Amino acid sequence: MALTEPKPPAVDPLDVARIKADFPLLTGTTVNGYPIVYLDSASSSQKPQAVLDAMDDVYHHAYANVHRGVYGIAAEATERYEAARAKVARFIGAPSTAGVVFTKNVTEAFNLVAYSWGRANLSAGDVVVLTEIEHHANLVPWLMLQQEREIELRFIPMAPDYTLDLSGLDRLLDGARLLSFTAMSNVLGTLTPVRHLADAAHAAGALCMVDGAQYVPHLPTDVIELGCDLFGFTGHKLLGPTGIGVLWGREELLDQMPAFLGGGEMIRDVRLDGWTPNDIPWKFEAGTPPIVEAVGLGAAIDYLENLGMDAVRRHEIALTTYALDTLAARFGNELTIQGPTDPAGRGGVLSFSYRDVHPHDISQVLDERGVCVRAGHHCAKPLMRVLGVGATARASLYVYNDEADIDALADALDAAGEFFAL
Ligand SMILES: Cc1ncc(COP(=O)(O)O)c(C=O)c1O
Repeated sequence: MALTEPKPPAVDPLDVARIKADFPLLTGTTVNGYPIVYLDSASSSQKPQAVLDAMDDVYHHAYANVHRGVYGIAAEATERYEAARAKVARFIGAPSTAGVVFTKNVTEAFNLVAYSWGRANLSAGDVVVLTEIEHHANLVPWLMLQQEREIELRFIPMAPDYTLDLSGLDRLLDGARLLSFTAMSNVLGTLTPVRHLADAAHAAGALCMVDGAQYVPHLPTDVIELGCDLFGFTGHKLLGPTGIGVLWGREELLDQMPAFLGGGEMIRDVRLDGWTPNDIPWKFEAGTPPIVEAVGLGAAIDYLENLGMDAVRRHEIALTTYALDTLAARFGNELTIQGPTDPAGRGGVLSFSYRDVHPHDISQVLDERGVCVRAGHHCAKPLMRVLGVGATARASLYVYNDEADIDALADALDAAGEFFAL
C-alpha cells in the first residue's frame, strides 16, 4: 500500500445506530425540529429503555422496603437490591460485596470518607494531597475539614500538556496521610496514572482514594489492579439513574471507619444508653436506601457489560480521534481544546474555547440546532483559574454518539461563528 493512500475508515466496535435506538430521549427532536445531538454525558448520561424497564418492574411487581419485611415482595425487593450490589462488585473488580457501599452519588461518597475516616484520623497539621484538576466533590469536603481541623492540603499541579506534573510528587507525599485524585478529569479528559500514584502514596505511608466518576463509565475498571484503598463513582453518568452512587473500600479499612449518618439500617442494636453498628456495607447505609435506583444501576451495568467495556473504550478513542481531527481541520486556531492531544491518554471530554465567544453564548446557539453541550466552570473552579479562563464549552461523548454527532457539532459551531461575526 502506498504511503499516501488514505487509511480505510476504522470499524466502530459499537453499533451506534442500534444503541441510539435503545435511548428513548435520543430518538426525539427539539422544538424547532432538529434531532437531539446529546453531547453532555460527562455531566449526566441518557438512560436506555432497559434501565427504565428494570426500575418500572420493581415498582410494578416487587416494591417494598428492603432488609425488613419477611413477606414475599419484601424478600424480592431485598434480593434485587443486593443483586445490584453484586453486579457493581463484579463490574469494578471488587473482591466481595462487603466493600460496596451505596450512596446518593459520588459526592456523598467523598463526604462520607472525609467525615468518617477524616474526622477519626486527621488532626491539625496532618497532610492530605489532592490535585489542581479535581472536581469540587473531591475538594470541598477536604477544604471543610481544613477549616475545622487545620489539616494541611497540598496539590499536585497540572503540567502544560494538561497531564499531572509529578516532578515534585515525593516532596508532596512526604508525611501525607491520604492522596485523593481523579482518574479522569471532567474538564480536560486527562487520564491520570492511577496505579503509579497509588503505589507512590503507599510507599509514603498514605492511603489512596480515587474519583472514578468519569472513569468507570468509559474504561474497564478493576479496583484491585488500580491499587487504591477507596474508590467512588456515580450511577447517573454510566446510563443509570440519579440518586445512586458507590463508595468502594478495602474491607478492613471500612470496618475500622466509624459510621457516617445514624438511624435505621446502620445499627445492630440500639438501647436508650447506646448503640452498636451494623456490619459493612450496611453500617454506612442509614435509613431506607435508594432501592429502585440501585436496581436501575444494576441494569445499566448489564447494558454496558453487554456492549463490552473494551469495546466502549475503543469506540471512545476512535470517536475522540475523529472529533479532535474534525475540529482542528474545520476551525484551526480559532478553536482551542483544553486537554491532551493524544486520544489514548484521554477520555472523550472536549472542553473548548471558540474565538472570543462566551461559552454560554456558544451553548445557546448550538442548542438552537439541537446540539447539547455544557458551558461553565464544570464544578472545577480552581482548575479554571489554572487554565486562565472563567468558563469553557464542553462536548462529551458516550456510547450513543457517532461521527454524525461530531459533524452536527461542527456545523452548529460554524453557524455560531457566523452569528457572532455579525
Ligand atoms: C470527576 C467528577 N467527580 C465528581 C463528580 C460529582 O458527581 P455527582 O454530582 O454525581 O456526585 C463529577 C460530576 O460531574 C465528576 O465529573
